[in-house]
Amino acid sequence: MCGIIGYIGKEGAKDIILNALLKLEYRGYDSSGISIINEGEIITKKAVGRIKNLKAITEDLPESNMGISHTRWATHGKVTEANAHPHTGCNNQISLVHNGIIENYTQLRKILKEKGHIFKSETDTEVITHLIEEMIKEGNDIETAFIKTLKLLEGAYAIAMINRAEPNKIYAARKSSPLVLGIKEGEYMLASDTLPILPIMSDIIYIHDGDILTITKDSYKIQNLDQVPVNREITKIKADLDEITKGDFPHYMLKEIHEQPKTITNAFSGRIDEENSTAKFGGLNIDEIDLKKIDRVILTGCGTSWHACQYGKYLFEDIARIPSIAEYASEFRYRKPALTENTLLISLSQSGETADTIAAIEEAKKFNVRTIGIVNTIGSTIARMVDGGIYLHAGTEIGVASTKTFNSHLVILYLLSVYLARLRNTITKEKANEMLLELKEIPKKVEEILENETQINNISEKYFNVKNALYLGRGYNFPVALEGALKLKEISYIHAEGYPAAEMKHGPIALIDKDMPTIAIAPMDRLFKKVQSNIEEVQSRGGKVITITTEDIEDHSFDEIIKIPKTSEYLMPILATIPTQLLAYQIAVKRGCDIDKPRNLAKSVTVE
Ligand code: F6R
Repeated sequence: MCGIIGYIGKEGAKDIILNALLKLEYRGYDSSGISIINEGEIITKKAVGRIKNLKAITEDLPESNMGISHTRWATHGKVTEANAHPHTGCNNQISLVHNGIIENYTQLRKILKEKGHIFKSETDTEVITHLIEEMIKEGNDIETAFIKTLKLLEGAYAIAMINRAEPNKIYAARKSSPLVLGIKEGEYMLASDTLPILPIMSDIIYIHDGDILTITKDSYKIQNLDQVPVNREITKIKADLDEITKGDFPHYMLKEIHEQPKTITNAFSGRIDEENSTAKFGGLNIDEIDLKKIDRVILTGCGTSWHACQYGKYLFEDIARIPSIAEYASEFRYRKPALTENTLLISLSQSGETADTIAAIEEAKKFNVRTIGIVNTIGSTIARMVDGGIYLHAGTEIGVASTKTFNSHLVILYLLSVYLARLRNTITKEKANEMLLELKEIPKKVEEILENETQINNISEKYFNVKNALYLGRGYNFPVALEGALKLKEISYIHAEGYPAAEMKHGPIALIDKDMPTIAIAPMDRLFKKVQSNIEEVQSRGGKVITITTEDIEDHSFDEIIKIPKTSEYLMPILATIPTQLLAYQIAVKRGCDIDKPRNLAKSVTVE
């Protein structure tokens, strides 16, 4: 959701900055811009479209050793050059980039207009620039003007700003939007996450809410809004450069789908406690006595992560016998839920930066609710704010559509349910051992499904031109139906809905005709016969059915069949998800869609 870069150090900053910006393109990719300082003037270039368009118009930009840049995901104002960042105010004295939303921008804009400021864009961000100019006009030095302005802003921000009179300085600040500082001798880089920094620097500081930064080529200073210096820990991170290249795959999404045997293994590695027939987690930080007292679990997240929450809800009730619900973080944060000390909030997020999920945790904390975060991004806001953290260890996910991290979330939830169940004596040692053993078989079975890609490709040939699709699943496979539909709609732009199979006859059945295929998740388990009846209901109305089922299926009358290996009912969603991911991918490729950067989306949704 917008990416920002600030760099100061070597000559040739433009290339360093634009290469870094490319690594943030997944956060927003409708337009981009850059400002540098040359001979006491700020030079700004902006372009609509991908960063390559910006690169093309900055070839003749003069040399500089510093600059700021931005890749945008529009929130306020259309996708135009004028609305792209950086914003430079009335007199080009300062230039700034912003990620977040300024909620009181309408009032501020009105006041500033009355004072004579001329706005060039429709963005909320531009008020920040004019406010700083106004503060300077009132006699404040630039740093004081910056801080006084921040105090007037409501909403969320990560900001980087340059001042034409100080070609050796970048100012920055953070409130509720991510910001990271990379450190190397004689060089500093500010970025919305570590991805652009790690190929060149390994010392990182995670900037906290309320921090204000000033960086020069040789030093950095962090203070709070009261101008009291603060110390932040430097973390050493080693980059895994393989993670951020596509390798031999045409798209990150396909690469990430294929990484799943490894990422699933990473999710359970070191977390199986064979001696005690349970699971173990290093960073849970919640006393076992307190965990035993938990009488309600709320799982929360957004999008794909919320689908994983749905799976967790089924498991925690089934295995650990704890009343559980899955809630959209965006709803939870405003609906005034009745929470007690014995409620456990489990928040799921790939990025660890999703604004609604963060707000849901903040809301729960007000009631002394214990919080667990299951996140992928190391050091992210959610990872740092929860009582107990469990990392997915899935490696960087670059494809905007989540794939591997969905299944990693399922693995962690599975282990967590075993852990809680053993703690509360709701399953025997034998049952736990059986469950843990079965989990270890999953990576091999995922490999088998991935080998079946050609068959899924053949199916996609027949269906890539449809306009609508319905995904059906029951029990543990209902979340798979939801996730399968989301994957198809977001990357292929085919309208798709996920439904609990039996619900179909309460409405969606009206849509069934020969042009709307149904993808049914129907493994040979206790609910197979039920789903089979639903499939027949579709077929008798002329609808085509693609069925994902297990290899032990015998007679069938499905139009298309994708067979997957058998596993337990609890683990089936992990296997069943893989064909839905491949199908969505293959269909989107045939429709000529931009797989890794679908229109209107962004990888990390840091605005509410
Ligand atoms: C879908 C997708 C989104 C995210 C959602 C939450 O493929 O990626 O629906 O799942 O924006 O993001 P995280 O998991 O980063 O909190």
